[in-house]
Amino acid sequence: MKLVKGETVETEVTSAAYEGVGVARVNELVVFVRGGVPGDRVLARILRSKKRYAEAVVEQILQPSPQRVEPVCSYFQICGGCTWQNADYELQLQFKRQQVADLFCRIGGLSDVQVNPTLPSPKLYHYRNKMEFTFGSRRWLTREEIADPGPANKEFALGLHVPQRFDKVLDIERCHLATLVTSEIVNHVRRVAQGNDWAPYDTIKHEGYLKNLVIRVSEFSQQVLVNLVTTERHTSRMEFLARELVSRFPQVTTVVNSVNASRSPVATGEEEIYYGSGSLVEKIGPVAYTLEASTFFQPNTLQAERLYGVVRDFARLSGRETLLDLYCGIGGITLFLADQVAQAIGVENQARSVELARQNAAANSTENCEFLESDAAAYMRETAGRSSPPPDVVTIDPPRVGMHPDLVESLLRLGPRRIVYVSCNPATQARDLEVLTGQYAVEKIQPVDMFPHTYHIENVVALERR
Ligand SMILES: C[S@@+](CC[C@H](N)C(=O)[O-])C[C@H]1O[C@@H](n2cnc3c(N)ncnc32)[C@H](O)[C@@H]1O
Repeated sequence: MKLVKGETVETEVTSAAYEGVGVARVNELVVFVRGGVPGDRVLARILRSKKRYAEAVVEQILQPSPQRVEPVCSYFQICGGCTWQNADYELQLQFKRQQVADLFCRIGGLSDVQVNPTLPSPKLYHYRNKMEFTFGSRRWLTREEIADPGPANKEFALGLHVPQRFDKVLDIERCHLATLVTSEIVNHVRRVAQGNDWAPYDTIKHEGYLKNLVIRVSEFSQQVLVNLVTTERHTSRMEFLARELVSRFPQVTTVVNSVNASRSPVATGEEEIYYGSGSLVEKIGPVAYTLEASTFFQPNTLQAERLYGVVRDFARLSGRETLLDLYCGIGGITLFLADQVAQAIGVENQARSVELARQNAAANSTENCEFLESDAAAYMRETAGRSSPPPDVVTIDPPRVGMHPDLVESLLRLGPRRIVYVSCNPATQARDLEVLTGQYAVEKIQPVDMFPHTYHIENVVALERR
């Protein structure tokens, strides 16, 4: 029997689907219940009804799951950042492990593999070393803001996007994933911008000045980089803001302005430094890394050390191996493993990251690493055809889209003894593994929780040539 949009149904949430949505059944029909935690008995309101499934939202919790906890954040379920703050951490870890197992079975055809329990994050809150906030002229009003006819300025917001509403921004005073100083800087920049009538960018009309506020904090030194992304250059405004930030926050050691006049939502642009060096130094284990406003760096520093530790363990190095690190960024994995291999090559397509990787190698007195600027698939196409011996171990850490199909093919042709595949998207990882397992056996699978309270999963797989 089809459910009708708007009706409420009583049901029990029995499991969770990708993106952290609860799953229930009503009359044999699968119902995805937003806000439902496995074990909850709820009254759910139907939002959409299809032939095979329905989507609903929790209207009332009749009997809470024993694993339900009180979310700490007042924006929970409005902001798209966290989906799991209402579930205890143990359940989150189990869910992530189960997701990897399900995706590997469904997409990768790997039904008989053992997935290790998810490695928990050392910090459950305030773990993010980088936050990207958005300015908007179309503010998403919370229930409280609608009820209180008070001072909320409907034409200004600095915060995070509301899910599925690219034009609406939720104004955020405190984010529990960010560090405390990050939230304080957000609130101060908001005051400065509003006090001086700097206009937020309007995504629909394509007008306004302020686009994004990117804040990076070094876990190692606690120093802070602030990057204001704007549609145009306004030297006097930036000089004023830099003075304001540096005088109020001694942790702010560098202030950058990225100018991006396009409609693109990416928080990068032509960079100009207004204070400091434009970079930060961060450490993972014994290795120091210099990073900048728009270079990639693992967003949870303490957990990155565990992630790299898993990569090291899975690579099983004796000191004599040659290593190829594809998608190497500023040299993260390459430099972490450098003292355990004879020779390492890192490949990365962002020119500035490659320059920083070389500088990072020099700053750590590492002499056995070479960094090449190239598209990973193009590099592999050329290398796989050469007659020289293949590297012993290849580490791979691509963006969410996973590996290019060409790259998977040339990796098979190259035939290294061992591959360690790090992924922030187990669905594309499973797709790539389906092909790789033609010649490689899956040895170990280790989910690592880099992002507590969100549905994001980091996963490492060790593969051995058959
Ligand atoms: C997930 S990050 C991994 C970085 C690094 N392994 C680390 O731990 O810091 C992916 C990196 O791949 C780079 N990248 C994206 N597409 C690429 C491509 N087609 N070829 C080479 N590098 C690419 C990005 O610039 C980014 O630095």
